[in-house]
Amino acid sequence: MEDKERNILITEEEIRQKVKETGAQITEDYRGKKLYVLSLLRGSFIFTADLVRAIDLDTTIGFMTTSSYGHSETSQGICKVVYDVPDNIEGYDVLIVDDIIDTGITMEFVVNYVREKGASSVKVCTLLDKPSRRKVDVEADYCCFEIEDVFVVGYGLNYGDHYRNVPYVFNWK
Ligand code: IMP
Ligand code: MG
Repeated sequence: MEDKERNILITEEEIRQKVKETGAQITEDYRGKKLYVLSLLRGSFIFTADLVRAIDLDTTIGFMTTSSYGHSETSQGICKVVYDVPDNIEGYDVLIVDDIIDTGITMEFVVNYVREKGASSVKVCTLLDKPSRRKVDVEADYCCFEIEDVFVVGYGLNYGDHYRNVPYVFNWK
């Protein structure tokens, strides 16, 4: 990793507090439901691990990997399944968890995919949201932090092979 001064956007303490609040809200909203947390790899693995420990309900947790065609850091317009949902989610109240909603192309694809698999309900939870970058009409039901159009890394978010394990979110420049 490069050794330069980091412009921290969201601190560990801010993340901890917000994830706790979001988990408490999800706990309230999903009481009596059949919660299935669907975490999108790899970006959301750290967020998911913290979030599910802030949800005081019985829940199934599954992972899915999608990828967009092309090699850019952002979506190229077409999304495909690389690793499929490992369970039959028919009848479940699925909460899709991702690190960031940027153009929204990934999330729109996964929401439709999960609906087609027969989920009872589908909601979206994201750590970060960049609404100014949206190309399709998708909204988060739970969003921890709205951010400007800047490329950020840390707390699961990467640039190439770097920074996923950094415990806070900072501006990559
Ligand atoms: P979308 O399909 O354009 O909404 O893109 C979502 C994906 O793009 C995220 O799950 C990330 O993998 C990646 N992405 C978008 N913005 C950033 C960023 O600022 N930092 C790191 N990854 C990002
Ligand atoms: Mg991602």
